[in-house]
Amino acid sequence: MCSCFLLLALLALASASQLGVLAWRPWPHHFLSGSNSTATLSIGGGGGASSAAGLGESKKYEGSSEFVKLKYHMGPVLTGNITVHPIWYGAWTPAQKHIVRSFLRSISAPATPHPSVAAWWRTVRLYADQTGANVSAAVILGEERSDRRYSRGRSLSRLAIQSVIRDAVTAPRRPLPVNPRGSLYLVLTSSDVAVQDFCMQVCGFHYFTFPAIVGYTLPYAWVGNSATQCPGTCAYPFAVPPFAVGLRTAERPPNGDVGVDGMVSVVAHELAEMASNPLVNAWYAGEDPCFPTEIADLCEGIYGTGGGGAYTGQMLVDDHSGATYNMNGIGGSKFLVQWIWHPYLSYCSGPNALDHQ
Ligand SMILES: *[C@@H]1O[C@H](CO)[C@@H](O)[C@H](O)[C@H]1NC(C)=O
Ligand SMILES: *[C@@H]1O[C@H](CO)[C@@H](O)[C@H](O)[C@H]1NC(C)=O
Ligand SMILES: *[C@@H]1O[C@H](CO)[C@@H](O)[C@H](O)[C@H]1NC(C)=O
Repeated sequence: MCSCFLLLALLALASASQLGVLAWRPWPHHFLSGSNSTATLSIGGGGGASSAAGLGESKKYEGSSEFVKLKYHMGPVLTGNITVHPIWYGAWTPAQKHIVRSFLRSISAPATPHPSVAAWWRTVRLYADQTGANVSAAVILGEERSDRRYSRGRSLSRLAIQSVIRDAVTAPRRPLPVNPRGSLYLVLTSSDVAVQDFCMQVCGFHYFTFPAIVGYTLPYAWVGNSATQCPGTCAYPFAVPPFAVGLRTAERPPNGDVGVDGMVSVVAHELAEMASNPLVNAWYAGEDPCFPTEIADLCEGIYGTGGGGAYTGQMLVDDHSGATYNMNGIGGSKFLVQWIWHPYLSYCSGPNALDHQ
């Protein structure tokens, strides 16, 4: 299956004395062996990396690279109102749901303090289709469903995620609506649910549903709560992977929930990619459509100015709580969200960039 986000590997393994900061993204462990103090940037698919550059030699910043050839492949982008339907699979507390809902509601919120989630979405809006229509400004939190009984079990294959969606849109009572003009589904699995490839290569993925399973072709994404399974992988930098313990300390999450605060950035990643590449035939880099490198893949692990390789970039710290974040949402909420590839500047961009006002 296509479209997980392991396609740009930005890996760094550095001794604390050399780089001071250690970033790690969810890539297979074999990438890490043998590399001690160098960061490797490889762009390409399926493990067949097509290029590599030592970051020490030619200093790249915020992901900028002449190797990136992001192209438009003539398919649609989401130009109508985007209605996100969360499906809460497993055990979720109201506080956890509140964090994710606040983030989703912040995307199109008109007046939130700078740097805002809404300004982050403006980079996604730069992507247009062949008619010249841009990704929609309107992202709306739609109807939701809960699957508290783990109706498809506690261990899901990738394809089983589509069965969870099918259950939600065909439920006898209050099924989720199906609107081919802009509906999408966000399956969120609780921390006690195993999903194929979760923690190994992916923290989330997006694709589209098959008519044979769901009855329609609609974009969807899955994101898992990594809190008990692999927070150092999928909720970094709110947790650090075992090999980095002692090299750096975890940041404090802005909403007090390591797993869910970590999920927010992955949800954002998948939404940006669904909007710009909903049927995996619009905006991506790389020659192989089975392994597209999409607009958020290119900025994996970059949260601020200077980010790239081993460094997350400059983030903000909340005076009161000491939490690390990089953007504001509705009602005083704060989030740490990865940046997005800017199609004209050809580097990663976000609202907290220091060269923005
Ligand atoms: C990594 O660096 C340490 C010292 O900093 C050294 O002892 C070790 O052999 C190195 N490992 C590799 C795989 O280069
Ligand atoms: C899109 O959403 C806006 C509000 O964000 C609403 O005013 C408008 O009617 C919606 N358009 C459609 C076609 O649903
Ligand atoms: C829409 O996309 C075009 C083409 O990329 C871009 O020039 C324009 O700034 C975008 N509009 C908005 C509102 O982002």
